[in-house]
Amino acid sequence: MDILDKDYIEKKLANSSFAEVAVFDKIDSTSNFARNAEAQSVIIANEQTSGRGRVGKSFLSKKGGLYFSLVLDKTVDGNNLTAKTAVAVALAIEEIISDKVEIKWVNDIFYKNKKVAGILTESLPDKYIVGIGINVYPVNFAQEGLVATSLLKSQNQKFSRSDLAVNIITKLENILQNDSFEYMTVYRNKSAVLGKQIRYTKNQCEYVGVAQEILDDCGLKVALQNGQTDILSSGEVSIIL
Ligand code: BTN
Repeated sequence: MDILDKDYIEKKLANSSFAEVAVFDKIDSTSNFARNAEAQSVIIANEQTSGRGRVGKSFLSKKGGLYFSLVLDKTVDGNNLTAKTAVAVALAIEEIISDKVEIKWVNDIFYKNKKVAGILTESLPDKYIVGIGINVYPVNFAQEGLVATSLLKSQNQKFSRSDLAVNIITKLENILQNDSFEYMTVYRNKSAVLGKQIRYTKNQCEYVGVAQEILDDCGLKVALQNGQTDILSSGEVSIIL
């Protein structure tokens, strides 16, 4: 298993807007720590004991993943921050593993049809916290009652989580600073749901339909089985394979 290298990451980010890098072997949650951290800092951990996911869920964060949070000040354009982050994560992973991943609306990264990474963006009065969790080394997810996968097949595979973190941060910064980066085009092209049959629950009712379009504000337009159209702005959908 590789080592998360604070000095290396700091050096690689020397020309970026991220000045502070903190690396922990074990922490409750990098996003909790980020609440009291300065803007433009990066908090990275090898393991989390209380990793948080969306909608109050937990995020399994065993040793050997890449768990990190970025603290952004409110001058950045926070519109579609989750989609921008998903694009940065997907592009960076693809570059490093030389294989394709998909973005499952709204904030999951899928590899070989299973979740390999999740994103939790939070807006606080004075900062945004972008939390990214990636399963890198293998974990027995089935034993944990989860359907998920890791980027690697074995503990012995050569890999640099430090490079992956740097690559994601650099890409996200580029997207945030460069208005002409057509991240929504990439987001749509990498979508795991467009054109697929999906199922979701809303107001305690279950719906089935085809994911038709991802709107500019990231809303998901669904053609329902009953002929109606629905637009989802948040929530969780499952793909019917
Ligand atoms: C999800 O899949 O619902 C989002 C998961 C986000 C996990 C990351 S890991 C780093 C950061 N710290 C946390 O506690 N959560 C995010």
